Amino acid sequence: MPDIHLAEPKALGADAANDLAYTPAVAEATRHIYAKVRHVIPEIEWPFHAPLIHAINRLKRERNAVILAHNYQTPEIFHGVADIVGDSLALARRAMDVDADVIVLAGVHFMAETAKILNPSKTVLIPDAGAGCSLAESITAADVRLLKQAHPGVPVATYVNTSAAVKAESDVCITSGNAVEVINALPGDSVLCIPDEYLAKWVATQTTKRVLTWKGHCEVHERFTGAQLKAYRDQFRGDISIIAHPECPPDVLAEADFVGSTAKMQDFVEGRQPKRVLLITECSMADNLVAANPAVEFVRPCNLCPHMKRISLSNILESLRTLEPRVEVAPDIAARARRAVERMLELSR
Ligand code: 13P
Ligand code: SF4
Repeated sequence: MPDIHLAEPKALGADAANDLAYTPAVAEATRHIYAKVRHVIPEIEWPFHAPLIHAINRLKRERNAVILAHNYQTPEIFHGVADIVGDSLALARRAMDVDADVIVLAGVHFMAETAKILNPSKTVLIPDAGAGCSLAESITAADVRLLKQAHPGVPVATYVNTSAAVKAESDVCITSGNAVEVINALPGDSVLCIPDEYLAKWVATQTTKRVLTWKGHCEVHERFTGAQLKAYRDQFRGDISIIAHPECPPDVLAEADFVGSTAKMQDFVEGRQPKRVLLITECSMADNLVAANPAVEFVRPCNLCPHMKRISLSNILESLRTLEPRVEVAPDIAARARRAVERMLELSR
């Protein structure tokens, strides 16, 4: 694997990063990318995105870097510069066998921390260190220690949307894509499923175990209501498939035809090709699905995740140029958190 020269990061890629004109050469080099996003990015906007995309893709090669992007990233990132895309589970899995010196996480901080935990020797970058998550902020490692004292012997299954310090206190991690499978594989008839109250309540409907939880919520998904979903069903006289993320409140999930992680939502749309679909999740998800599913009509109330939206082509380019901001996790916390993440990957294989 080639060495990267961290001592002089700014020297690398300066030409690519400074030259951001929309030239005929840039137009030609990015034509195939525009073909994928033309339904969601107006032609008049492409001259702003294309030079950045072109510069990032050149600099990625110079840096021997890969970009991992979550399904909630905007289409110019998702289709333009990402090497690996997916839900939190896919990003964690794929982060394990990344063959590169640098990982750029186009997503939120806990995702970058997970990539770092699994790749301690690699440089892991998050283009905006302030890209947090209301669920990750809802619980601390001290809270988990208190919960364990209050419920001795009950396994702690912690959503990946948490800090490394919280993961380090946990027996196993879960994602929305594998929560039921992992929890069913744990010993005993009770589980602490933290910190997302609504995910835990949904898991409780899918398992015979007693599920104890915490009061964390996703600030994006908690805003949907069952009444809103009913109104859409009435508007389209029932001719609509409603698919919702398990971070939504129970009255929303009760109204949905299908509940699943962002990757499972994608599988549902790609596999079943519903005539019309209502995606009850973050707004960019539908934008990213439009390209591969032109026959599906997407209806979407638009709730944006302000944290995911802190990542842009400009700060990805800057991050690749400067190799900052880096994500670091203290080695003792990383080792304990890694055990919880690896156990999840083993139990959900
Ligand atoms: P997924 O794992 O389903 O992609 O969800 C991550 C997330 O942050 C949802 O809000
Ligand atoms: Fe966190 Fe919700 Fe944003 Fe996902 S959508 S990163 S759970 S705040």
